Amino acid sequence: MNLYDRIPNNVNLNEDKRLQRALEKWLPNYLDWWHDMGPDGFQDRDVWLRTAIDVGSEGWAHFDYVKMPDYRWGIFLEPPQANAKVGFGDNYGEPAYQEVPGEFRNSLRRIIVTQGDTEPASVEQQRLLGHTCPSLYDMRNLFQVNVEEGRHLWAMVYLLHGYFGRDGRDEADALLERRSGNPDKPRILEAFNQPCDDWLNFYSFTMFTDRDGKYQLSALAESGFEPLARTCKFMLTEEAHHMFVGDTGLSRVVRRTAQLMKQNPNGDVRELGGIPLEIIQKYINFWFSYSLDLFGGEISSNSADFFAAGLKGRFKEQEQYTDHIASEGSFTMTVVENGKLATREVPLRNALNEVLRGEYVKDCEKGLARWNKALADEGVSDRLYLPNIRFHRHVGEYAGHSFDIEGNLISKEEFEKGKSQWLPSIEDREYVRSLMKPVTEPGKIANWIAPPAAGIKGKPFEFEYVRL
Ligand SMILES: [Fe+2]
Ligand SMILES: [Fe+2]
Repeated sequence: MNLYDRIPNNVNLNEDKRLQRALEKWLPNYLDWWHDMGPDGFQDRDVWLRTAIDVGSEGWAHFDYVKMPDYRWGIFLEPPQANAKVGFGDNYGEPAYQEVPGEFRNSLRRIIVTQGDTEPASVEQQRLLGHTCPSLYDMRNLFQVNVEEGRHLWAMVYLLHGYFGRDGRDEADALLERRSGNPDKPRILEAFNQPCDDWLNFYSFTMFTDRDGKYQLSALAESGFEPLARTCKFMLTEEAHHMFVGDTGLSRVVRRTAQLMKQNPNGDVRELGGIPLEIIQKYINFWFSYSLDLFGGEISSNSADFFAAGLKGRFKEQEQYTDHIASEGSFTMTVVENGKLATREVPLRNALNEVLRGEYVKDCEKGLARWNKALADEGVSDRLYLPNIRFHRHVGEYAGHSFDIEGNLISKEEFEKGKSQWLPSIEDREYVRSLMKPVTEPGKIANWIAPPAAGIKGKPFEFEYVRL
């Protein structure tokens, strides 16, 4: 572990001078990007952050006060496995690829660039949120997520610099040049161009969009390209905290709304400064549908190619499946045919995006069950739900058609008419924004959200997580 190097790493960077020089050249550009596009206004504050200092299951997470620009962004891979094999696809059982196989070079680069692009994008989307935090605890969690997304960018850039030569370096530069929401140089995936400018958006994003990250990284953690698999395995340990922030954040908002509903049973929780359940539901609908798009088309020749090549597997490929070839078998898909919903049999390998999306939906449902339990605990009978997977899609089989929240095919006009009941309106967004007043006294919390059940790493909620 070369922790105190300029670029902390466990890949023996100092033995590979060419790679080390390339990364050291990229480092100042990264810091410029972080300075311009990272969290606004708090760069010189001490934040109680965890830093990756070791990949071992014991104590990789080291907690201390750090100023964000001094965070030890580094390159950490899970240790290699002896005799690692390609775990699925046409080359199943052959030795894992330690270098990029020529015939898969373009596919692999595209996978890595697409994943890499999401990391800085989310930091850009969240850059102003520190100014409106509901508590110091939440502010700290935001910054923790931000620095780790920065590290995830490093992880992907390491692969580009280390394994793709000149075009990898160009791609690494381009990752710092695109900007979330910029019409001239947008980020690659649309969820990462949507504004995330209030805390209800932030919790929804970390619940639903970071969770897409979990499933993409899990599929890549199975990869036969071993450096990618090892990188993604370690990223997943960080990702868990991001989803925790979203899941518990939404749970706390829901609980607080339920408490306010009981205080004012005849009225709108707005009178008491809470966020109505229907607005929370609309934010769920918005981020869930955009996050579903991230899995790609329902019927996809790319998914088949990536699987055949041993580059991208299924969720828990080794644990959950016995047939790792998957060249036979089919998947029944609902498609739109002649203006009606119909079913179609699709070869399994062409349906793997949809298979992964299905795993994701199951995981999201568990979140909904937890929030609904919070409602039940507070004695409120209303419930939240996930919209149908066909609702409000911009990618794949359902894009270009209109569906209601239950997944019924409707006309474009009917969708336009129903839209304001299903998705956040400008007024909804303005109302939520009107509540976003910063609360930065240790132990205090905004009125629209309940405090967390516990603090971070044994510290109480009242702990001074950020020194302002
Ligand atoms: Fe990430
Ligand atoms: Fe994340």
